[in-house]
Amino acid sequence: MQGVVNVDDLRKLAKRRLPRICYDFIEGGTDDEVGLVTNEQAFRRQRVIPRYLVDVSVRDQSTTLFGRTYSSPVGIAPTGLADLFRRGADLMLAEAAREANVPFIMSGHSSSSIEDLAKLAPNHGWYQIYSAVDPSISEDMIKRVSDAGLKTLVFTVDVPETSNRERSIRHGWGPSRKLPWKTRFEALRHPLWMMEWLQHGTPYFGNWTRYAGENASAEQVADFVSNQFRAPMAWKTVERYRELWKGNFVIKGIMHPDDALLAHSLGVDGVIISNHGGRQLDNAPSSLEVLPTVCEAVGDRMTVMLDGGVRRGLHVLIAICAGAKFVFQGRPTLYGVAAGGVMGASKALEIFRREIDISMAQIGAAKIVDLGPQFLKRKDET
Ligand SMILES: Cc1cc2nc3c(=O)[nH]c(=O)nc-3n(C[C@H](O)[C@H](O)[C@H](O)COP(=O)(O)O)c2cc1C
Repeated sequence: MQGVVNVDDLRKLAKRRLPRICYDFIEGGTDDEVGLVTNEQAFRRQRVIPRYLVDVSVRDQSTTLFGRTYSSPVGIAPTGLADLFRRGADLMLAEAAREANVPFIMSGHSSSSIEDLAKLAPNHGWYQIYSAVDPSISEDMIKRVSDAGLKTLVFTVDVPETSNRERSIRHGWGPSRKLPWKTRFEALRHPLWMMEWLQHGTPYFGNWTRYAGENASAEQVADFVSNQFRAPMAWKTVERYRELWKGNFVIKGIMHPDDALLAHSLGVDGVIISNHGGRQLDNAPSSLEVLPTVCEAVGDRMTVMLDGGVRRGLHVLIAICAGAKFVFQGRPTLYGVAAGGVMGASKALEIFRREIDISMAQIGAAKIVDLGPQFLKRKDET
């Protein structure tokens, strides 16, 4: 992809190709979008102290997670409704992850199915579940993930209610599906995206069709999913899923050390510290801010991962220095897939890989295990 040097270049390409309603869905946060800014600023504000005269001529960024060695410590976070940005996006992201040998977490609101993911990327695909109002649906999904042979289940817990996304509201996004003319006319200015839409129509929630009824239209499935969305969640849900799921079990959206400890006491293997990319609770702290307290609380007892605001390879290293075992990013690979399909998603991962490699040399760490808090300037240091 000519002219693409960093993640922000991919963002600009995605912005050009997508109608504003779609681009703003990717880009937006909730309320005043404080959380969105906080996530990125936390990385920008962190200072890193390099060590020189260390042999970094050969560098290795491979990282072992849940017994599997990945080529790089940054994977793809789950992002729902990705087919809105490019048809087949979920599997394109999975393919890019497989080729780069990093994990891809399929969203519980994907268009492609668990079974298709398992066929395409059996060793790299993880599945993210949202708790459904009808527990038999969630339980069946867990069974499907297990039958398909996937090894890691991620339970997202930070969506107790649909959040206030004002960019989407202004575009007329809502249950009535009657988009204002202004939004429709704007979409016409993006002919490549428009052609895909005319060819394929409204995307399906691929994993939910069978529960909504095999003959349900995409819109009927969407209504069904929306009615199933606000399931009352409690720690007993975690207990139940742990009972049913024998593989690696991860909770995504944890921000408080006591919640991480509770998760550990119920047999959860890992947590992804996340504020959902600033899309749920606007004034939540950034993931990087709370990472050290969670790590301190759980120690080596569970795998602590992080997402939110990671835009550079150096950010990945900062998160690892601050205690994360592995890092995920959501928007960068979405920009990539929207801009250029598999090639675009691969480009995003390649950019991270290259920047991580260069930054490891700059810091003075030849291997990921060499990273630690000694490289981070503490706030009380002058
Ligand atoms: C368009 C979009 C859709 C998302 N959908 C989901 C989802 O279905 N499930 C989920 O757990 N998180 C979802 N997220 C949150 C991401 O998994 C991740 O936490 C967030 O994007 C990380 O922040 P970043 O985009 O700054 O990397 C979504 C994020 C975006 C941008």
